[in-house]
Amino acid sequence: MPSVHRGNFPNRQTQFSARRQKIMQQKKSLPIASVEKRLVKEVRKNDVLIIVGETGSGKTTQIPQFLLDAGLCRDGRVIGITQPRRVAAVTVAKRVAEECGVELGQKVGYSVRFDDTTSGSTRIKYMTDGLLLREALLDPYLSKYSVIIVDEAHERTVHTDVLMGLLKKVQLARSSSVTDGQSGRFHKMPRHEKYAPLKLIIMSASLDARAFSEYFGGAKAVHIQGRQFPVDIFYTRIAETDYLDASLITIFQIHLEEGPGDILVFLTGQEEIESVERLINEKLPQLPQENQKLLIVPIFAALPSEQQMRVFAPAPSGFRKVILATNIAETSVTIPGIKYVIDPGFVKARSYDPGKGMESLIIVPTSKSQALQRSGRAGREGPGKCFRLYPEKEFDKLEDSTMPEIKRCNLSNVILQLKALGVDDILGFDFIEKPSRAAITKSLEELFLLGALTDECLLSDPVGHQMARLPLDPIYSKALILASEFNCLEEMLITVALLSVESIFYTPRDKLEEARTATKCFSSPEGDHITLINVYRACNDFLEKRSMEMGIAKTEKVFRKWCKENYINSRSLRHARDIHKQIKGHVEQMGLNLSSCGDDMLQFRRCLAASFFLNAAVKQPEGTYRALASGQVVQIHPSSVLFRKKPECVIFNELVQTNNKYVRNLTRVDYLWLTELAPQYYAMQN
Ligand code: CDP
Ligand code: MG
Repeated sequence: MPSVHRGNFPNRQTQFSARRQKIMQQKKSLPIASVEKRLVKEVRKNDVLIIVGETGSGKTTQIPQFLLDAGLCRDGRVIGITQPRRVAAVTVAKRVAEECGVELGQKVGYSVRFDDTTSGSTRIKYMTDGLLLREALLDPYLSKYSVIIVDEAHERTVHTDVLMGLLKKVQLARSSSVTDGQSGRFHKMPRHEKYAPLKLIIMSASLDARAFSEYFGGAKAVHIQGRQFPVDIFYTRIAETDYLDASLITIFQIHLEEGPGDILVFLTGQEEIESVERLINEKLPQLPQENQKLLIVPIFAALPSEQQMRVFAPAPSGFRKVILATNIAETSVTIPGIKYVIDPGFVKARSYDPGKGMESLIIVPTSKSQALQRSGRAGREGPGKCFRLYPEKEFDKLEDSTMPEIKRCNLSNVILQLKALGVDDILGFDFIEKPSRAAITKSLEELFLLGALTDECLLSDPVGHQMARLPLDPIYSKALILASEFNCLEEMLITVALLSVESIFYTPRDKLEEARTATKCFSSPEGDHITLINVYRACNDFLEKRSMEMGIAKTEKVFRKWCKENYINSRSLRHARDIHKQIKGHVEQMGLNLSSCGDDMLQFRRCLAASFFLNAAVKQPEGTYRALASGQVVQIHPSSVLFRKKPECVIFNELVQTNNKYVRNLTRVDYLWLTELAPQYYAMQN
């Protein structure tokens, strides 16, 4: 026997058990540990239970384990826990698998769009709320679950809201006391013994549980006592003009002047996070050697999942950790070790104007309750400090709480899914808060124009059903179906994958010229879509050539090097490649025709026009554009390859609102194509 292995073994074993011991200790010290018995009793007693508890008290990680240990999921059934965000589902599942001492994907697993780690033996399943909605399409009774926990309900994402309405129905249909007439759409299906009753738990971090309780017919709410240390709040004297710059200054101020403890900074998205990360790394070498011990860790949705776990690892001894996070760190994931919070006071939110039919992502001030949640992150393990980067009088002007997303988003996606679930009367659906009639009508109209609905407002066959099966925005699903007819599905798959991630172009402010030169070879005079395809293909070709010469391990390194040299954001491109693989699987399963138009980009552009006719804009005499559907005046975003070319007519994929309204991701089309390919809309307009 090789002695070296034997020699290593005890050491590793000791390390391993030391970590387990620490985890067990952490588990026991959580506020929730002392109320395990009471919680289990309440769950047994109540079909719907609302659990309110401060962030970090242990709700998400512990409650599913309590229920499993108490035998609340018998006969091979599953405890499902939904999260509004995929990062939370992924990181929490990993943590819980570790706590249980099992391999991820066995007893504990997660399933999120484009990534499923569960298996037949999974009993605790973390997933996104959107994913559970999709599962209902295949299994309307959600029969494999004995308990469903809707976590982070206070976030009120559109999926959470719709899910609660659906779960209410499913629970009724699975309860033994109901007569057929009561169960709405389910009366069409014969009920069977196998549908054992379903327990529902709604979990929330905000104290106000009234809305949920009322919605579920006066359901019982239990409050878990949290542990919160005092947090000193600091405001700026005057308003900041550039909150990224202000964040940067504050990070260094804390680092140089305050005692030990990690820093959590709330930014609005991947681009901001990456830009602050870069700025810190540039400034750091200018500090004296002994002050350079800062460890920067980003966390946002599109980060590859192995990198997401880095935020939970403690910094090396002597180092201070700086976590750059989106509002995911507000309540969804609890990161240990934080003593300082920097809150610029902004969040990226969806906004929808039903009159114009346009949805956009805009950066808006947080609500008061978000600001309080953020500052609370500094006081979990001891007294902390929160630096709000705005004057105190601004705080008083903030809204008390955030408006539910269902009131400010395009509803086509949700309506398509409800229709596929057999909910035909959308206006009559039991929403916890009803979206406006105007928003519903506008989205129905959009689905009709995309061919997903019949004249009677029912799901069309096959297009509507196919669209509902794809885990994409309806407009992208339709583009793939059309591309199959236009013989350019390969090109459209790449396009949709790249449009589903943040920009793949990496343009540091101080290297604009270099970046521009590097990406010039990809740019197409026809627009951004073909430019994106060119980048994707160039990268593939390069990797293919090189992978002959080297192993998989090296491919990753070569990939990053290629991206760096070409000023491409490797994180975004990698994410897009993953998504591409997944959607390709879906369309293959659906039997769509996977062909390429080769060099015939005219064909592809016609397909873009046929797909995105709702987002067309024509040039006006003064050089701005008029969006045809909404009549809004828009401009071409400076990042577009068509910025200077200004063609007569374009289709676009995104509207960005800053001081001006910009459109992004454009392709030049012929106006006549629109009337030819989308007569259902353009004939009507004329
Ligand atoms: O859901 P809630 O906010 O009540 O708490 P939780 O997410 O269950 O977190 C409980 C504890 O687990 C916190 O103290 C976290 O620091 C810890 N945790 C962790 O160390 N690593 C993770 N991946 C997730 C949670
Ligand atoms: Mg939680």
